[in-house]
Amino acid sequence: MKVLVTGHEGYIGRVLTPLLQAHGHEVVGLDSGLFAECIFGPPPVDRIPTIRKDLRDVTLDDLKGFDAVIHLAALCNDPLGNLNRELTVQINYEASLRLAELAKKAGIRRFLNSSSCSIYGAAGQRCVTEAAELQPVTAYGECKRDLEKGLQQLADDRFSPVHLRNATAYGFSPALRLDLVLNDFVAHAFVHKRILILSDGTPWRPVVHVEDISRAFLAALEAPRDRIHGEAFNVGLDEENYQVRELAELVAEIVPGCRIEYAPGGGPDRRSYRVDFSKIRQFLPAFRPQWNARKGIEQLYQAFKRYGLRADDLEGPRFKRLGHVRSLMEAGVVNSDLRFAVVSSSPKG
Ligand SMILES: NC(=O)c1ccc[n+]([C@@H]2O[C@H](COP(=O)([O-])OP(=O)(O)OC[C@H]3O[C@@H](n4cnc5c(N)ncnc54)[C@H](O)[C@@H]3O)[C@@H](O)[C@H]2O)c1
Repeated sequence: MKVLVTGHEGYIGRVLTPLLQAHGHEVVGLDSGLFAECIFGPPPVDRIPTIRKDLRDVTLDDLKGFDAVIHLAALCNDPLGNLNRELTVQINYEASLRLAELAKKAGIRRFLNSSSCSIYGAAGQRCVTEAAELQPVTAYGECKRDLEKGLQQLADDRFSPVHLRNATAYGFSPALRLDLVLNDFVAHAFVHKRILILSDGTPWRPVVHVEDISRAFLAALEAPRDRIHGEAFNVGLDEENYQVRELAELVAEIVPGCRIEYAPGGGPDRRSYRVDFSKIRQFLPAFRPQWNARKGIEQLYQAFKRYGLRADDLEGPRFKRLGHVRSLMEAGVVNSDLRFAVVSSSPKG
């Protein structure tokens, strides 16, 4: 299939696109390049033809000739959503829905939406299936919920939206993110021999390896239409629901000499959800996850040793989405609406 992957230079995209190519799909990427330089380890060798564009500026012409869209581009994570709610709504909801409308107009039949388990929000102790009430507690989560709803209204005989509600990702990607809970714990354990838990450690957080998320996209791309049309799938594994403190304890078992500390005043955190992952196993049997948190921690620990993760990688903005976006804004590389500033070479006056 000829597949357009938006946000292909991000954490998931840098793992997903080579997997799609290895399975014989023709991949074109679309990305504004916000994190193009934020690479950990050797530069990626795969060459992906790229439409260098902001999602908000996509035209019908950009979408001609594709069989499917995998839509990853977004402002990712809760603090980034809180930085500027309006920007998150513009990109994660409005421009994303518009992309789907154009894709449908262009005759693209399948639209894989990278959604998130964070739309369950404050789900408490019960284990939620895809039928559960959505109670997002952040702008990011609300946009994911609203986008799913909007995409469902476009579903018909010629257009199949699919929503992959990913658990929180972990694991090595060349576009490393250290603002994801497990990656952050391993990085702190490696650099400072100390994990700081900001909550009281009780919130539930299902986690899934970035390669397994990529496998889920591949399975949904290749599945018969009647298996995926208009469906939402939780992406992860039942046995990979952890409380935050359990994740920290696992890291401390693997990274030598590391201790766990709790930030003073850390409360229970409203974002807590345990998730049931049986539907994806049943509907998409080609999805066979290969990782668990323990293996992922070992993978990251080895990668940090091999490529030398340093304190400034951890404290600086490079591998944190909010920090990097802020530093691009402060340096004037992007303007306040997150578009790359155009440098004029024409003389003044
Ligand atoms: N990583 C996770 O734990 C996780 C969990 C659930 C869902 N998701 C979803 O999966 C998708 C990818 O996540 P990720 O972790 O790879 O994020 P990421 O931040 O690493 O990548 C996002 C990519 O989108 C691009 N992008 C952002 N705004 C853009 C715009 N206006 N125009 C064009 N490109 C733009 C960025 O340059 C970046 O390359 C997102 O939709 C995210 O919400 C991620």
